[in-house]
Amino acid sequence: MTELRFGLDFGTSNSAVAVFDGSGVRLLPIDPIAGDTLPSVLYVRRDGSAQIGHPAIQSFLADNRARGPVRREFKMLGIRMASSDPEQPTVEAHIFTDVSSPGRFFQSLKTFLGDPLLSHTNVFGDERGLEDLIAMILSGIFQRVEELTGIRPTSATVGRPVEFVGGREVEERARTRLEQAARLAGLRNVRFVEEPIAAAFAADVPAGLALVFDFGGGTLDLCVTRRYKGEIDVLGTAGVDVAGDRFTQLLIDRLVAPHLGAEKQWGEKRLILPRFITSAIGDWRALSALNEKPILDALDDLQALGAPKRELAALRSTIELQLGYEMFAAVDATKIELSSIQLALFSFHRGAVDIDQQASRRAFEVAIAPLLARVDAALTTVLERSGVRAGEIIEIVCTGGSSAIPAARTLLRKRFENAELRDAAAHTAVAAGLARA
Ligand SMILES: Nc1ncnc2c1ncn2[C@@H]1O[C@H](COP(=O)(O)OP(=O)(O)OP(=O)(O)O)[C@@H](O)[C@H]1O
Ligand SMILES: [Mg+2]
Repeated sequence: MTELRFGLDFGTSNSAVAVFDGSGVRLLPIDPIAGDTLPSVLYVRRDGSAQIGHPAIQSFLADNRARGPVRREFKMLGIRMASSDPEQPTVEAHIFTDVSSPGRFFQSLKTFLGDPLLSHTNVFGDERGLEDLIAMILSGIFQRVEELTGIRPTSATVGRPVEFVGGREVEERARTRLEQAARLAGLRNVRFVEEPIAAAFAADVPAGLALVFDFGGGTLDLCVTRRYKGEIDVLGTAGVDVAGDRFTQLLIDRLVAPHLGAEKQWGEKRLILPRFITSAIGDWRALSALNEKPILDALDDLQALGAPKRELAALRSTIELQLGYEMFAAVDATKIELSSIQLALFSFHRGAVDIDQQASRRAFEVAIAPLLARVDAALTTVLERSGVRAGEIIEIVCTGGSSAIPAARTLLRKRFENAELRDAAAHTAVAAGLARA
């Protein structure tokens, strides 16, 4: 039997696995619902069981909807701290916390690979590092690969962005952690290949000079290729941490945050919501940290001081019902709609949150303009590194979900007047190229 070669694209938003059997490349339907594109999400239930992809999303939403009222209890933290009582110099620290939360949901974990803090996340009593959480996703993927092929991968070609989120300074830390996660998930041999280079192989770039434009959820990844008689040379690569999650975040700021009181001022002193609260909206890590008694008490205090009732109730629902992911997903869907229509209606009704708000492509484009300027700068960088002028590029291969954004395509058309734009499989080109690389 010929040896199978596996290519793993662990994306910020979506993951895919392809296998090369010596003659052809095949994508594996690793997500039981969506097929060959698996959302890179993890859901860990209170009992420690873990799910990934669409089943994880479904379980999280079902559990969250079915849960009863938030139940809080004092929970000991297992550390002692100074007490104000002279008779008792130290006390065991405790918090008043939500003990009925059914599970913890994680998304966009790849974004945090370069984070300087080696902070651990408490998952129902177990301290989990980022590597462990990513390894749980990768293990789930490899288990599925084993079900589909009969082989559990022990070596694979794994994609990596040209630059991880955080840039070159975090390179060493981010790469080491990704490799660590892959090893924890059972890989003994890990070979990294830059994602746009893999996409170039899969997309069969044309003879002459081409640019691969891989615009995903966490990063933009670029490479310039020269193909001569079937040989593909990579002339240069560049990357920047500007992509879909940032755009969705900007839309959350516009469509959701004002309904949760983010822009309100009240009272003679023109009070506003604390910044750490408003900036937590749409950030699952920060939002779950707000679900503690002292913070909710603080919201009550604000209301007593005249803060707007409706908005505070909506904010409270968002925190208590852990609506962060649902809001993110709803806004993300509206963002995607704006790639094909000019006006979309964003509706969100859960708990005390009632939002019906129109979103326009025009306003979206204004909001993302500063980020697109960084995309433009990355294009300049890749051309410089490759020693190529824009006018020499004859084809641009677009891949990654965000490459569908009309403003990004307009930017490409303007800068590369002699190039044709061609779409490669948005979510699977990288994996397919990795299997063959
Ligand atoms: N039609 C569309 N218009 C705009 N954005 C889109 C569209 N379709 C998908 N997206 C966005 O594309 C992103 C996901 O793309 P993709 O799956 O290529 O990323 P990824 O490979 O997981 O991330 P990365 O490669 O950066 O690690 C999401 O932010 C999603 O909202
Ligand atoms: Mg990608």
